[in-house]
Amino acid sequence: MNNIEKQLIGKLDARNAHVAVIGLGYVGLPLAVAFAHAGYRVTGIDLDARKVDAIEQGESYIEDIPSTILQALRPVPVGEAVVAGVGTPVADSRMQPRGVLTATTDFRVLTDCDAVFICVPTPLGKTDEPDISYIVSAAEEISRYLHPGMVVVLESTTFPGTTTEVILPLLQADHDELSVGEDFFLAFSPERIDPGRTDWTVETMPKVLGGVTPACLAAAQAYYGPAVGPIVPVSSPEAAEMTKLFENTFRAVNIGLANEMLLMCDRLGLDAWEVLDAAGTKPFGFMKFTPGPGLGGHCIPIDPHYLSWKLRTLEYNARFIALASEINTEMPRYWVQKVQDLLNDAAKPVNGSRILVLGVAYKKNVGDMRESPALDIIHLLREKGANVEYHDPYVPSFSYEGTAMASVYDLDAALSQADCVVITTDHDSYDWAYIGKRAQLIIDTRHILTNRR
Ligand SMILES: NC(=O)c1ccc[n+]([C@@H]2O[C@H](COP(=O)([O-])OP(=O)(O)OC[C@H]3O[C@@H](n4cnc5c(N)ncnc54)[C@H](O)[C@@H]3O)[C@@H](O)[C@H]2O)c1
Repeated sequence: MNNIEKQLIGKLDARNAHVAVIGLGYVGLPLAVAFAHAGYRVTGIDLDARKVDAIEQGESYIEDIPSTILQALRPVPVGEAVVAGVGTPVADSRMQPRGVLTATTDFRVLTDCDAVFICVPTPLGKTDEPDISYIVSAAEEISRYLHPGMVVVLESTTFPGTTTEVILPLLQADHDELSVGEDFFLAFSPERIDPGRTDWTVETMPKVLGGVTPACLAAAQAYYGPAVGPIVPVSSPEAAEMTKLFENTFRAVNIGLANEMLLMCDRLGLDAWEVLDAAGTKPFGFMKFTPGPGLGGHCIPIDPHYLSWKLRTLEYNARFIALASEINTEMPRYWVQKVQDLLNDAAKPVNGSRILVLGVAYKKNVGDMRESPALDIIHLLREKGANVEYHDPYVPSFSYEGTAMASVYDLDAALSQADCVVITTDHDSYDWAYIGKRAQLIIDTRHILTNRR
């Protein structure tokens, strides 16, 4: 163990370390809170001044983090019961040191940070190619403040090779004097958070971790240890990067299979959910995925494309990903055809019909609309001339492709006035039995009404 490693372990033992989290969104804020709960002094860094201000005011903007948690992590003025700051002293040595969480838009704080965790977005570009510009920008900022002993961990989902082939050269660009694995430490650890889920959180979920060198793995592991679920070490950052992409590709492909099962049962005149429920009784060798309106969220519709893009550079065609993507992307169109058919049976055209879309969030009980298939359904219905309204208790208003919409105020009136109601998100707060009675015609993409009977 060299001196740098000894100092690091000493700081960690006393929780006398300053941790930075770059990107305070769905992933970064819960991680920052987990580190603060473990007793570290944590500074969140985000380009969005509104998020930084909200954290400083103790006001949460992420459903999974109640504001009371942020308020409890605010620094306490010197002179009060506990003193805020590094490895905050506590009166009783058996008590865990009190962590604090503050936030800033100013990267200069990294000068004083011992470890930094990158949780910035990794979207797709216009032609479905990875857009790692946010990661690159964060790494460039870190590089300006890289110093001996610093631990850098990338958490953003990305293609295998990003940590070693992109981040490492950026960090080292102006630091010939610093060697990775000796003077500073670099690792990748994918985030597995599922917003809205309470049984598995960042503090309990097993954490896959791969270091550029064994010392990098050990250093990152030392920081994560007190804060997150059990560490699952793997041999390299590439293995950790690939693990995350495989997990999400597994889901995309199986959702694609469930969706195709629905399409096939439709042709065969069978009830796909009856078949699925029956298959789901098999105690082994079967895992139940359900059909729905299409893929949504920031991970499942996007991450597999990171993998297929990387493979294309190696002249390999990731066929399962392409097929699942094709089927899942077509689902909104399938459901719009079902609306058309149902209205047709009632001798009504889509054009001019009043259609109420219930739920625009990509999944239940959250307000996250990223990649939500409900948006495609609304768009396609409007293209056919429908008069579309929506209701979502979690999304008061939104703007999509130049159209601004607001959730209907009077749900009861909207239900009875709609020619057709399309259920796209199965929020628990809805009274499904009542909705079932109140609506004239219903297309239920989530199979929630039948489930409730
Ligand atoms: N949302 C999820 O459920 C989830 C789950 C697992 C993994 N991930 C992955 O985690 C990463 C982050 O996702 P998210 O959902 O938290 O995104 P998000 O959009 O909710 O948050 C990202 C934050 O990063 C900030 N940001 C962007 N560029 C920055 C920069 N250069 N410096 C500082 N801040 C910057 C943004 O302002 C934003 O607040 C992505 O790679 C995503 O694929 C997300």
